[in-house]
Amino acid sequence: MKIFVDTANVNDIRRMAEYGILDGATTNPSLIAKEGKKLSDVIEEICGIVDGPISAEVMSEYHQGMIEEAKELAKIHKNVVIKIPMCEEGIKAVSRLSKEGIKTNVTLIFSANQALIAAKAGATYVSPFLGRVDDIGYDGISLIYDIREIYDNFNITTEIISASIRHPMHVQEVAKAGSDIATIPPAVIEKMFKHPLTDLGIEKFMQDAKK
Ligand code: E4P
Repeated sequence: MKIFVDTANVNDIRRMAEYGILDGATTNPSLIAKEGKKLSDVIEEICGIVDGPISAEVMSEYHQGMIEEAKELAKIHKNVVIKIPMCEEGIKAVSRLSKEGIKTNVTLIFSANQALIAAKAGATYVSPFLGRVDDIGYDGISLIYDIREIYDNFNITTEIISASIRHPMHVQEVAKAGSDIATIPPAVIEKMFKHPLTDLGIEKFMQDAKK
């Protein structure tokens, strides 16, 4: 499973990139707003750090506007992927952009049917938000299993980016479900390194080595 980092904070991205485990990055308007910078500037910076797909989200309400924004964003770097919200206008934009060879990531996916529609429109990626599903008391992981099963039934090549990851167990579960990618906040990536027995083991080996 590929690992993307889910943040617009370039310092965090630089730190994560040092581990050599990143395959890409995702941003969204809320993450960009937190940084107080222009979307195009942040995306350009991220493209200079991570060599892989970098998602940048359009903000227009109608497909014509989304397409215009997408074309501008795509000029920033060859790795830019256009993130488009799941809605009727978004799907119109995705089908037109995919015909022009512009890569898309359909975001805010909360059902397998939405993922099927996005794939039919030619989406390169879909982003099911499992944490937000869990937040309202439903089962986020089963959403990933359902999309995987449907895509496999029909050899659909759209890749699943499991998003809205809240903790390390989410990562383990989506990997078991066959998600192509997990996009993970830096704080969760850091937790994935940890196990109390590893820390104790390292300490013990250090002490013994000094004997
Ligand atoms: C995905 O691309 C989104 O940026 C992200 O995973 C949303 O997560 P949240 O539910 O924590 O906002």
